[in-house]
Formats: sequence, C-alpha cells, structure tokens
Amino acid sequence: MIDNRVSAIVLAAGKGKRMESKVAKQYLTINEKPILYYSLMEFERNEKIDEIILVVGENDIEFCKNDIVEKYNFKKIRTIIKGGKERYNSVYNALNNIDKTKYVLIHDGARPFITQKTINDVVCAVIEHKACIVGVSSKDTIKIGDIERWVESTPSRDVLWSIQTPQAFEYNIILAAYKELIKEENINVTDDSMVLELMTKHPIKIVEGDYRNIKITTVEDLIIGEQFLKMRNLIINS
Ligand code: CTP
Ligand code: MG
Repeated sequence: MIDNRVSAIVLAAGKGKRMESKVAKQYLTINEKPILYYSLMEFERNEKIDEIILVVGENDIEFCKNDIVEKYNFKKIRTIIKGGKERYNSVYNALNNIDKTKYVLIHDGARPFITQKTINDVVCAVIEHKACIVGVSSKDTIKIGDIERWVESTPSRDVLWSIQTPQAFEYNIILAAYKELIKEENINVTDDSMVLELMTKHPIKIVEGDYRNIKITTVEDLIIGEQFLKMRNLIINS
C-alpha cells in the first residue's frame, strides 16, 4: 500500500430520473460544460488528490473517455468503470477496482459546486478520524412525524445536519463494511456513512461544508447552478 494515497471516486452512473431529461442529468450542460466536468475538475486541480476513479453507466464509458476525459484533458482519471443498479452497487464496484490506496473520498458527480476548501478539509479530517462526511447545519426546522403524519417531536437544530458528499474513509474500513452490507438481503442505504453506521461501530466525524454544494436533482437546480457559476466567476478564488 502506498502511504497516504488519496483516491476520489466520482459517481455518475445514475439515470437522473427526477430530472426528466432525455440525457442523464450529469451530462446536461451548465455554461457550456457538462455538470460532471465541474466536479471532476475540482478533484483534478486539488493537490491532495492522487487519482480519480470515474463510475458511469456501461454504455457511457466510451463517450466519457472521448468527450470528457480527452476533451478536457483530465490527467488524474486512472480508470473509468461501470456502475451498478443502485448507488451502493456503483460504490461497491469502484471500491473493488481500486488497490494500493489509503483513503477514498466518495463524491456524487451530480454535485458540481464542491469547493477546494471542502476537499481540503475532508482530506485532513479523514487522516485524523478515518471516517468523515460533509454536512451543513439544517436551515429548516425538522420534525419527526408518525406514519399517519402526526408530529411526534422536534429535534434541536443544533444536532441536525443536512449531509452531502464527499464522504471519506480509510479504504480498508469502508471496503470491509461494504463487503458485509452486500451479504444482506434488503439493503436500504442512502449514503456511504450509513454503511459504516450499520456494519461497524466506527465513529464518523461531520465536517462543516458549504450550502452551495447542492445535488443537481430537478430542473430548478440547473437555474440555481447557473447563478452559482456566475457568482463564482465574479469572486476570484472562491
Ligand atoms: N449514482 C450512481 N449509480 C447509481 C445511482 C446513482 O453512480 N446506480 C450516482 C448519480 O449519478 C449521482 C449520485 O450517485 O451522481 C447521486 O444520485 P442521485 O442524485 O439520486 O442521481 P440519480 O440516481 O441519477 O437520479 P434519480 O434518483 O433522480 O434517478
Ligand atoms: Mg438516485
């Protein structure tokens, strides 16, 4: 194992059903570049990241090689692999296709506005804590409701976090947890840290992130995304 090697898994094998577009949402363009380009570029230009593993749909591998990796001259993309049916299948495929690494950052390719600061903070936190996730303090009041939609309680906002990606782990720890998960029958996980929560007792640190790191999910998000890019072009180095 190469000491302290840091790999980024960028997930782009989803179908983007909620976007209801012909082309999967990660290939839609904002400011003339595909959404996926932006997240790849942030990992490409971050000095703490050694390599990128790109996960896409089986039929999109050639397209991504030509129209993303070569076209934009990405140098850190070590391999493009095919994803699976669910997000966790895609992550599991990626984890099984990396070797000789110490840390992995798992990121949704549909979150193009990841910042250099967040990547840096996550890498520092994973080295210190072995497992960490990015989150922002919840702006909304969150209620727990029962099955008939009666309010049960209101947790304090101080302990509520909206969780994003990247989520980062020591490679051996997350691979072992995923291997256990895959043996289960009814798998219902919505992020990677949940796999650790369910399969291990390993503590997971929350790293405070950025409200701009949204996941492009529906059409409104494209409009918001365009505005974020305009804002970023105005503020140099943001
Ligand atoms: N993803 C993946 N493999 C899957 C499902 C999702 O790699 N089988 C990726 C998506 O491409 C996306 C990220 O995981 O970058 C987060 O998923 P989500 O926002 O739910 O994207 P989609 O599943 O594509 O969208 P939808 O749920 O609306 O179909
Ligand atoms: Mg999905």
